[in-house]
Amino acid sequence: MIAIGPARENDADWCARLMESTDPWITLGRRYEECLARLTHPEYTLLVARRESGEPVGFMLLHPRGLAGSPYLASIAVAPDARGQGLGHLLLERAEAEFPSARSIFLLVSSFNQRAFALYQRLGYQRVGEIPGYSLETASEIIMYKRLSR
Ligand SMILES: CC(C)(COP(=O)(O)OP(=O)(O)OC[C@H]1O[C@@H](n2cnc3c(N)ncnc32)[C@H](O)[C@@H]1OP(=O)(O)O)[C@@H](O)C(=O)NCCC(=O)NCCS
Repeated sequence: MIAIGPARENDADWCARLMESTDPWITLGRRYEECLARLTHPEYTLLVARRESGEPVGFMLLHPRGLAGSPYLASIAVAPDARGQGLGHLLLERAEAEFPSARSIFLLVSSFNQRAFALYQRLGYQRVGEIPGYSLETASEIIMYKRLSR
């Protein structure tokens, strides 16, 4: 059983360690301190997925008006040994539920992160743009958007 809820003390540290040790953030050159600063920024909401034992298994970072005045999914990650079991899907559903009055939600995905791109597409996100060289000179950030049926 997995529960998703607001971050607790020390969760941001766990999330920053997960980010710094996994792609796309390794390729993007994101260090622990940079990840932690983003994860603890007061404008963002950090939600953590955890097992009944309390052990964290994934997280997502949301901004309520991060892109074009709509909610923005800034980061999402699942612990490597818990991937491919539907947790990412669960987190993305929760992101939509977090903003019941929003009509749209946005995210960015790096052009080299094709598996994450495929997951977003399966969940109804559309590719609506591309920003070349945004985070890395040699890659693009793909803008993805989902119209919420409300
Ligand atoms: C992307 C991510 C959050 C998805 O979480 P998840 O729990 O594995 O997702 P689900 O089990 O709901 O769905 C599995 C699908 O996720 C996608 N996926 C992306 N990266 C994956 C990975 N490393 N392992 C397994 N699935 C991954 C695939 O589309 C996969 O479907 P497939 O097995 O048919 O290829 C997770 O894989 C992850 O943390 N990846 C590293 C960080 C990352 O890329 N974050 C997104 C930044 S935009």
